Amino acid sequence: MLAAALGGATPGPGEPHEPAGSDAVHEPVLRDRVTALLATPDPGLVIDATVGAGGHARALLEASHPETTLLGIDRDADALAVADARLADWGERVALVHGAFDEVLADLEAVVADPGPVRAILLDLGVSSLQLDTPERGFSLRFDAPLDLRMDPSQGEPARALLERLDEPELTALLRDLGEERHARRIARALVRARPITTTGALAEVVAGAVPTPARHGPRHPATRTFQALRLAVNGELERVRAALPPALARLAAPDPAGGRGGRLAVLAYHSLEDRPVKRALATAAQGCVCPPDLPVCGCGRTPTVRLLTRGAERPDDAEVARNPRARSARLRAAERLPDTSSSDVASRAGAPQPPPPPTA
Ligand SMILES: C[S@@+](CC[C@H](N)C(=O)[O-])C[C@H]1O[C@@H](n2cnc3c(N)ncnc32)[C@H](O)[C@@H]1O
Repeated sequence: MLAAALGGATPGPGEPHEPAGSDAVHEPVLRDRVTALLATPDPGLVIDATVGAGGHARALLEASHPETTLLGIDRDADALAVADARLADWGERVALVHGAFDEVLADLEAVVADPGPVRAILLDLGVSSLQLDTPERGFSLRFDAPLDLRMDPSQGEPARALLERLDEPELTALLRDLGEERHARRIARALVRARPITTTGALAEVVAGAVPTPARHGPRHPATRTFQALRLAVNGELERVRAALPPALARLAAPDPAGGRGGRLAVLAYHSLEDRPVKRALATAAQGCVCPPDLPVCGCGRTPTVRLLTRGAERPDDAEVARNPRARSARLRAAERLPDTSSSDVASRAGAPQPPPPPTA
């Protein structure tokens, strides 16, 4: 079904292929729980919207109905090359597409002519171990590399250009808003003075020199939040998450009236800025009526379009964090499509003004 779908995803001749099943690729975060939530007993389409190295995708294919097809999306062409090799065993049941998940989900028919019922969608946000562990990608403070930070280096501007372009107040706001950095003003001043800053090593050094002494000796590198802010900005990460949630919810298949399960969405976020829009969108879609409690009858006419499958955000247990420290900050939320609403209803509700979230963690 997916064979004719996609271009640009598979590595060309001579490009590196990692052997399928290689141990070099990191354990997917909360793999068993994500699989239990999303593996589908019914044939249809599973969308791994952040396929990365294909770890979750493999687990989902292994545990789903044997006729399930999988569409893997990633902005990072290197990740797709690895996923392509690791998912080769599933042949034409898998298609990969190079693109941003919000754009692909909003126009799915452009890449899959006849998507059929969408049984599950996974968003495992942020950067991959592959990106973090490849020194020349410049995603990690552990390695000195060109200061780029783009997941798709063919789009947008690298972090070094952004640093060059912003004035000090703009940079302060960026570090405060996207890095939640307490020392944003001091760091912004130092960065502006030290420009041009073209490498991760230079950035780390300038930030370490700008923060007060105690902040230099904390458990994390003092430039971690600056790095996060620049990465979120150059990739437009939060905007894309917000933009992806309405079409993702709208795409989920309604349960068959004769019985069966509604399509499911699961999102793994790694910090509160990323988790907040997910929590709000799912809570809104699950809430239904938003009338003030003192109204005798409902005037808004809204009904829940999904039910929440997670209570608050689920976190990895200590054993997983010990095995895979990058899972430490993960928060998993999931929801299942309810019967009896059209896709457009779901879309409009998911994108509608947001009431306050329910009092869950
Ligand atoms: C945490 S990794 C996913 C790892 C994957 N679940 C696995 O098992 O290997 C996140 C991936 O999402 C990709 N990504 C992040 N934002 C994206 C976006 N807006 N559109 C498409 N891909 C995105 C990144 O390039 C990265 O490869």
